[in-house]
Amino acid sequence: MEVVIVPDAAAGGELIAEAMAALLRRKPDALLGVATGSTPVPIYEALAAKVASGAVDASRARVCQLDEYVGLPSGHPESYRSVVLRQVVEPLGLSTGSFMGPDGTADDLLAACEAYDRSLAEAGGVDIQLLGIGTDGHIGFNEPCSSLASRTRIKTLTEQTRVDNARFFDGDIEQVPHHVITQGIGTILEARHLVLLATGEGKAEAVAQTVEGPVAAVVPASALQLHRHATVVVDEAAASKLKLAPYFRATYAAKPAWQGL
Ligand code: PGA
Repeated sequence: MEVVIVPDAAAGGELIAEAMAALLRRKPDALLGVATGSTPVPIYEALAAKVASGAVDASRARVCQLDEYVGLPSGHPESYRSVVLRQVVEPLGLSTGSFMGPDGTADDLLAACEAYDRSLAEAGGVDIQLLGIGTDGHIGFNEPCSSLASRTRIKTLTEQTRVDNARFFDGDIEQVPHHVITQGIGTILEARHLVLLATGEGKAEAVAQTVEGPVAAVVPASALQLHRHATVVVDEAAASKLKLAPYFRATYAAKPAWQGL
């Protein structure tokens, strides 16, 4: 996997937005797999700025969700459907018809999980999948010890993830759902390009284990090591525990600019 160390979150957002713009220039109807949480916000801001300035046309882009809470009422502002509509679909000027996600309100959640995996495949697969990383090494909501072959399914959140996400629910952990639907690790690995962004010192240990540790279900993000095109973009703080940081810096500095991510 390629590791790119950037000065700060804004630089990471710009770099990844440019990679998405390059993809959309090559493939205007690309399927963009988006992530939620605080980390990817600079990516969406940078991409929206490129659309607004005419640097890229995203009008035919399609967007799909990585995961969703179970049990939040439809339209809840913190449901990931609402978040993606607010942060990605509306700023890019896309129609809601170009957007898909798992249905966390379905009566038959198992069927909803299978239907989502099927709809991703029927859409031709995800072209670029953005990922954050949990402090516990999760990607999507695949918590530690998730099967590396897992498909979209229901998961129970760890206490740590509920604590981490309470800030989106007025700081009240009781409001954070216990269950989610998440693309499985096997599902995520089917995307053509995986781009993980991690910023801040709180992610440094998870990043080090992901990049320099063994592939192990206990660190779900380490599955990126199995992917043929995985890019890990980290700011200086999130890179602070990487032993190979000097090597990653030198390698990226020597890369031809035209190559992109
Ligand atoms: P964060 O979440 O970007 O809000 O830190 C990342 C994640 O849990 O995957």
